[in-house]
Amino acid sequence: MRALALLPAAGSGSRMNSATPKQYLDLNGQPLIWHTLAALHAVPELDRIVVVISREDEWWDGSDWSAFTRLTVLRCGGASRALSVLNGLLALHDAGEPADDWVLVHDAARPCLDPALVSDMIARLGDHPVGGILAVPVADTLKLAGEKQAIARTHPRDGLWQAQTPQMFRLGPLADCLRAGMGPDITDEASALEKAGYTPQLVMGSPWNLKVTYPQDLQLASLILAAHAE
Ligand code: C5P
Repeated sequence: MRALALLPAAGSGSRMNSATPKQYLDLNGQPLIWHTLAALHAVPELDRIVVVISREDEWWDGSDWSAFTRLTVLRCGGASRALSVLNGLLALHDAGEPADDWVLVHDAARPCLDPALVSDMIARLGDHPVGGILAVPVADTLKLAGEKQAIARTHPRDGLWQAQTPQMFRLGPLADCLRAGMGPDITDEASALEKAGYTPQLVMGSPWNLKVTYPQDLQLASLILAAHAE
């Protein structure tokens, strides 16, 4: 079984209120994405780690990535996360990567990933007919907002999970589903597979595996990385 990681890292990070895209913001002395790459590089089952950056990216060349020996960089980011992933998959296909290789798509903006979780996911899903995603059960009570932010109703949280990454699917079917289903409703890889009629698997993720979206997430990520380095 061959497995590789694909990191969409072509976002502008507009919700961070920063001119520098969030993947390049300083996190404990390194660019944020450095930590994400370090986590994936520590997964022995991954043959390659492929990063998709924007064609206009001015930041990547400013850092030293030589510690990551299994790294490939593709300047083929798209206008949305789904397009960045699809462009990366098509480039891999054109370069001869087999259609039945497992691809673990992981947000560059999730730097606190535990490598052991990824190994566990690969072991659990390696024989699965479709693939699946890391996710965690929803812990909070959920409210549907009505007019003027009045509560319209409480939404039952039973059976609801929050999707994380990595999301692990085979290269060929994932590219086909993303291409066929492309639209604003495709906010992760699993939703493209679901839209095409497949049933991906949920694999228990971790609350530590947060996505850096807002400035306060960067502070949390810093604390998590520091605590786990001890
Ligand atoms: O913006 P959001 O947090 O949803 O982005 C998730 C991941 O997708 C980030 O790593 C970001 O760099 C990437 N992305 C991308 N191409 C885009 C938009 C986001 O690769 N056009």
